[in-house]
Amino acid sequence: MKKKQDIPFTFGVNIPDATLDKYDNHIIRTLSSMQGQYFDTESYEAMLLEDDQVLYEVFEIKRPEIAGELLTGLSVVHPGKVGDEFFMTKGHFHTVLETAEVYYCLQGEGYMVMETPEGDWAVEELRPGRVLYVPPRWAHRSVNSSADEDLVTFFVYPGHAGHDYGTIEEQGFRNLVVEKNGRSKIIDNPRWRHQEERK
Ligand code: 6PG
Ligand code: NI
Repeated sequence: MKKKQDIPFTFGVNIPDATLDKYDNHIIRTLSSMQGQYFDTESYEAMLLEDDQVLYEVFEIKRPEIAGELLTGLSVVHPGKVGDEFFMTKGHFHTVLETAEVYYCLQGEGYMVMETPEGDWAVEELRPGRVLYVPPRWAHRSVNSSADEDLVTFFVYPGHAGHDYGTIEEQGFRNLVVEKNGRSKIIDNPRWRHQEERK
């Protein structure tokens, strides 16, 4: 007899509403989980006093977190800004740095902000139908640049990848995505300090 976890299964990604018809885990991230991440700390604190609003949600299909497995799910970043900076995910390196990730954009518009421990950086546009391949070593954060629509992506990454949030919490990302004169703009993060320089 095969173990239950080894039986093939299917699930639906509903079109056009970009939802999963089945998931095992639902993560909700609110403003308070983004302490120190937004550049405009005054706006951040003021918003937090008003309401600890939901910034993004993740719907996960559970699988064993081991090499050979693939973890899949849906990431939904809601529209909004803290100061001029668009709502975004925390962002992370994978703990096992040499693991990649694929994102397929189903809805909305935005960017994936990425960088390596060596200090290389890249920002790629996300819009429906686009597939983004994040190679091993690249930290990744999704940013919703729409004024009114959710940014929805389907992701796949190796079961043993793990999440290193701490590095980004300390150093931030090298790039910020802000709204300037009604358009989205990628700017340097004045507070970014490369991990190497801290030592
Ligand atoms: C992962 C994926 C993805 C990501 C979400 C939320 O490795 O798990 O990159 O599912 O977790 O988009 O982003 P944060 O994990 O950075 O909060
Ligand atoms: Ni990841």
